Amino acid sequence: MEGKFIVFEGIDKSGKETQAKMLYDYLHKKAIPVIYTEEPTDKNAIGRLVKKWLVGQATINSGQAITLLYTADRYEHLKKVINPALNVGKNVICDRFFYSTIAYESSIFGVDKEWIRSLHKDMRKPDVVIFIDIDPEISLKRERSTPNDRLEKVELLKKVREAYKEMVNEERFFVVKGDRPKEEVFRDVCLVINRIFGV
Ligand SMILES: Nc1ncnc2c1ncn2[C@@H]1O[C@H](COP(=O)(O)OP(=O)(O)OP(=O)(O)O)[C@@H](O)[C@H]1O
Ligand SMILES: [Mg+2]
Repeated sequence: MEGKFIVFEGIDKSGKETQAKMLYDYLHKKAIPVIYTEEPTDKNAIGRLVKKWLVGQATINSGQAITLLYTADRYEHLKKVINPALNVGKNVICDRFFYSTIAYESSIFGVDKEWIRSLHKDMRKPDVVIFIDIDPEISLKRERSTPNDRLEKVELLKKVREAYKEMVNEERFFVVKGDRPKEEVFRDVCLVINRIFGV
């Protein structure tokens, strides 16, 4: 049987990695096969270029160009990591997916959302998307080991949050309130996961 494809979305520092890794541990302890992965990846040259751009080590001026790079990294990610795992029955927890590209690139550069969608038309969709919703004024105050990247600005993230919210109904996101202790957030994550896995 194919694995389930679970995606975490949300603005910067909303707690995606924290929750994704808690979920990984939770499923792993139950002996449910699972991998954790994230986007942009560091698994191919395109993803590594995107990461350099995020920290100001590479210049890309066109919103369409950065959108295409994110998307190309994603197709590689699907081919090399996500699909092979799902096909052998492993569940995949993915920290960010194409909803991030829609929310960010439309907000930052005004890239047309329908154009972004068209690039992803043939792409596999997740079985569940968990959107961790939080006010950027709160999330950006959180500690982090690495410096803020070029996108971590309150005004920008307010727009990104709105773009995510527009997708909630259409994409059937499971919305979790992120401005609570992580154990409380995880309790809500478990509600949807238990429904999927029946555990
Ligand atoms: N519920 C929470 N309450 C308070 N702090 C939290 C909570 N969840 C995560 N954090 C802390 O906030 C910071 C960011 O969390 P995390 O890396 O999980 O977010 P993220 O959404 O993956 O961020 P990014 O988009 O920047 O990669 C970390 O220092 C983490 O320990
Ligand atoms: Mg993260």
